[in-house]
Amino acid sequence: MNILFVASECAPFIKTGGLADVIGAVPKVLANSGANVKVLIPAYPELAPLVSDAKTVVQFDDLFGGPAEIVEVTATGIDLLLLVAPHLYDRAGGIYLGPNGQDWSDNDLRFAALSFAGAKVATDGVGGWMPEVVNAHDWQAGLVPAYLRQTGKACPPVVMTIHNIAFQGVFDATRLADLWLKSKMFTQDGVEYFGKISFLKAGLALSDAITTVSPSYACELLTPDFGMGMEGLLQARRSDLSGILNGIDLDVWNPETDPHLPATYSARSLKKKAANKAEVEARFGLTTGDGPLFCVVSRLTSQKGLDMLLDCLPDLVAHGGKLAVLGTGETNLERAFVEASNRYAGSVGVIIDYDEALSHLLQGGSDAILIPSRFEPCGLTQLYGLRYGTLPVVARTGGLADTIIDANEAALVADCATGFQFAPINATMLGQAIARACHTYRQPKIWTAMMRRAMRHPVGWDQSAAAYQAIYASLIERRD
Ligand code: ADP
Ligand code: GLC
Repeated sequence: MNILFVASECAPFIKTGGLADVIGAVPKVLANSGANVKVLIPAYPELAPLVSDAKTVVQFDDLFGGPAEIVEVTATGIDLLLLVAPHLYDRAGGIYLGPNGQDWSDNDLRFAALSFAGAKVATDGVGGWMPEVVNAHDWQAGLVPAYLRQTGKACPPVVMTIHNIAFQGVFDATRLADLWLKSKMFTQDGVEYFGKISFLKAGLALSDAITTVSPSYACELLTPDFGMGMEGLLQARRSDLSGILNGIDLDVWNPETDPHLPATYSARSLKKKAANKAEVEARFGLTTGDGPLFCVVSRLTSQKGLDMLLDCLPDLVAHGGKLAVLGTGETNLERAFVEASNRYAGSVGVIIDYDEALSHLLQGGSDAILIPSRFEPCGLTQLYGLRYGTLPVVARTGGLADTIIDANEAALVADCATGFQFAPINATMLGQAIARACHTYRQPKIWTAMMRRAMRHPVGWDQSAAAYQAIYASLIERRD
């Protein structure tokens, strides 16, 4: 089966969040079962070393304001199609945000170009390779089925995957012609969304199937609280919507081999984790103690609910807990966490940075990971936590609800608890979950049993990759 992925990030090459991890992991797993996946992403400056080794497979005289090409190269086992368009991607700054912290003003063109290139590969193929199905990821690839529809050419079916419905790619209707969209596409069952253009809406309306990244989020998306304006459309397409849980790359996230850990360990050598904990304490300026070390590895945005954690800090510290926070994001949250690290010096340590190596160390050296998200389509850090025996303390929502089994009385008796969940999602209930975690930590037998169980919990991709493949196969069959 030939599959084209179109996305805006792919680990380990370029990453701002979990989308990259997923795009970097799934193609390799699908390849194990005989599929041939190519991943189309923009050639941001970080990709320059790969571009120089690559072969040109498609050329555009003009792609939204400048010449462009698609080049092909294989790296870390992933077959990449890089969209080289210097006028759109070759600039210093973030991949979505400029140096001023605001979205690039031409993000509509930047990701229309990605979608347009995706549609081109979908219809014409590259070097004799023809995709049989296209999987477009998030709003940045949402226009793929729109461009396919307006070409009128024969084309493969498109699966639209929602990683986070909060990002919808909404732009002014006056941009229609600049985005090379025909006016006939500006309808309620096309790209039109409350009088504007939405890339994600286009993808949801015009794709052949829709997936999202956990079963619970698939249900939540049908409600006004979580659907964020798309719930009506999703309800109408309910029979085409599936929730397929994300997995993790078991080679990259493996406590037995992780090169970022001073001490690698397994479920049989948990004591070795102490050396990693000491390293985290040293890096975050924490005093050693006999209480649990909690960590946060996260974007600092309101989605992640970390403002609630700020409210809980006095109690966390009073229970003997320590906290190490690694994150970047909204200025007010960054500032509040830095202030907290001064107020609770020695107990709360904060590093405002994006640091892949440090994120591994935190998983390997902390006792628990806090994820109090207000909504969470899937979440990957709780899955890394499970694999590293770093017990997740999570809000009961989306993928967090689907992956963590709360240590309530019944679960403890049945030997199946892997973490701590709380609901409703507010600071009081988060505080209670933290208190429960601290209390459980002081019962080493129970805690250690939970760590071992967490580490056994299946977090790989096998089952989910098979679910994606089943959808691809049914769409291909329907076309034939
Ligand atoms: P989201 O995609 O919503 O940010 P996920 O939990 O799915 O949430 O994925 C987040 C990914 O980004 C994980 O791989 C996590 O380790 C990583 N990450 C988040 N913040 C940082 C950071 N400051 N430094 C390093 N890695 C980070
Ligand atoms: C999004 C979501 C996150 C999910 C990730 C990968 O960024 O916020 O929950 O794990 O995509 O699917």
